Amino acid sequence: MANNFYITTPLYYVNASPHIGHSYTNIAADCLARYMRQLLGKENVWFLTGTDEHGQKIQKAALEQGYSPQDFTDRMVVKFKELWARLNISYDDFIRTTEERHVHFVQKVLDILHRNKKIYLAKYEGWYCTPCETFWTQMQLKDQNCPDCKRPLERISETNYFFRLSEYQDWLIRHIKTHPEFIRPQFRYNEVLSFLELNRLQDLCISRPKQRLGWGIPLPFSLQHVTYVWFDALINYISAVGRFNERDHYQSRWWPADVHLIGKDILRQHAIYWPIMLRALEIEPPVTIFAHGWWMVGQDKMSKSRGNVISPLEMVDRFGIDAYRYFLLRDIPFGLDGNFSEEAIVKRLNSDLANDLGNLVYRTLSMIEKYYQGVIPPPTKFEEAQAKEIEDKIESISKELKDYLSTSYDFNFSSALEDIWELVNMANRYIEFKKPWNLLKESKTEQLQAFIRLLVDTIRKIANLLSAFMPQTAEAINQQLGMNRIQKGKPLFPRIESI
Ligand code: MSP
Repeated sequence: MANNFYITTPLYYVNASPHIGHSYTNIAADCLARYMRQLLGKENVWFLTGTDEHGQKIQKAALEQGYSPQDFTDRMVVKFKELWARLNISYDDFIRTTEERHVHFVQKVLDILHRNKKIYLAKYEGWYCTPCETFWTQMQLKDQNCPDCKRPLERISETNYFFRLSEYQDWLIRHIKTHPEFIRPQFRYNEVLSFLELNRLQDLCISRPKQRLGWGIPLPFSLQHVTYVWFDALINYISAVGRFNERDHYQSRWWPADVHLIGKDILRQHAIYWPIMLRALEIEPPVTIFAHGWWMVGQDKMSKSRGNVISPLEMVDRFGIDAYRYFLLRDIPFGLDGNFSEEAIVKRLNSDLANDLGNLVYRTLSMIEKYYQGVIPPPTKFEEAQAKEIEDKIESISKELKDYLSTSYDFNFSSALEDIWELVNMANRYIEFKKPWNLLKESKTEQLQAFIRLLVDTIRKIANLLSAFMPQTAEAINQQLGMNRIQKGKPLFPRIESI
């Protein structure tokens, strides 16, 4: 990767409050952004998130609740911003698709594509899924229900604008084949490639008649149409970080994005529509699109109609911010689906956080309190046998972290955390083995001092390694093990006995 790092999340629909699935992408993106800031410097990293505010879904939700779409989205966006603040999401910019800067930019894109004959007017007759805002061809259907959401389709006939997606199919196949990092994980790469090799792309309908849907960006060349919500929303990734010059050439300090983090359900739009839109504008494609899996509740998807939607705020109130962040990043490899349950969080919290990490810190602080009246002993000349082993471990973790979180394009948070925990447990084992309390009894003061010092240095390093994943915990550790004198507080992670 270059010296710049630009990472994005999907723009979340604001028709309902954010749930754990949304928080998952933002926590993962936050972790990567924080990690890359450590590596490249704060000024070289840009982390973009935001909200998707146009389209049928939003218009319907606003009407149902008695608001105008604009008032409704203004209210809903607050919930997203509050959640991100609570979860310590360190985004650099938050874009709303209703903002002037975005609306203008989208109209400029439409204008360029229209002038270059990449957009044309045609009559469409066929099947339409209103909730998904998607057109389907007869061939794609098994019955008269939407292949995605299974709800009944409507037969419609209308005049719309189409984007010449089909023109670029061969180019896209070539691009994917020559850029193995373009779609991740590998099985998603294979999925998109074989889809493209087995199907002919249709041109994409990018407008909706105003009389059917008013809540969208007006097409600059037709008073009767607004922009299809996906076409509008994808453009945020470039509208937020750059502009077109007078020769329609896009200029940006950040583009191309290094990673678009998305969920697996929106891979088609990101890996097919988006690169083709960029190609038609003569803009480089993003480096990597990473599709993560879904958090399920039991065997089910989370949905309002099933009544099983889990609120991230509730989880954070119960278990703490960093226990929640840790659980999501640690419990399943990034890319696969996972089962979300409170039992699973409690299990991780009690074992990895309370027993392993919390205990290591607490025991060390207690010993410093007891043996040195709370003053951290200075380094000694005494060579501690374990020091070398710990030093080597820290070095290998730093290298592996770089591979897991950067160079491999796998964003393997769980393996990275597993690695850090090997160090935590190594330190815990040394305490058991060394029995510092015996060193004191035997008056081996220099050895005791060297050992305690080794623990302090190791814990400080652990805090540093953890800071991208659990920023609050890293800070708390650094506060407790401050410069000279410790500040022993409550245990970092109290055990939870029952839920
Ligand atoms: N607005 C579009 C994205 C436009 S991006 C230019 C959208 N919004 S969404 O709010 O419906 O979904 C946003 C993201 O949340 C998607 O990446 C989706 O995969 C993710 N998730 C929704 N439910 C999820 C889970 N249960 N688990 C994990 N992620 C899930 O799609």
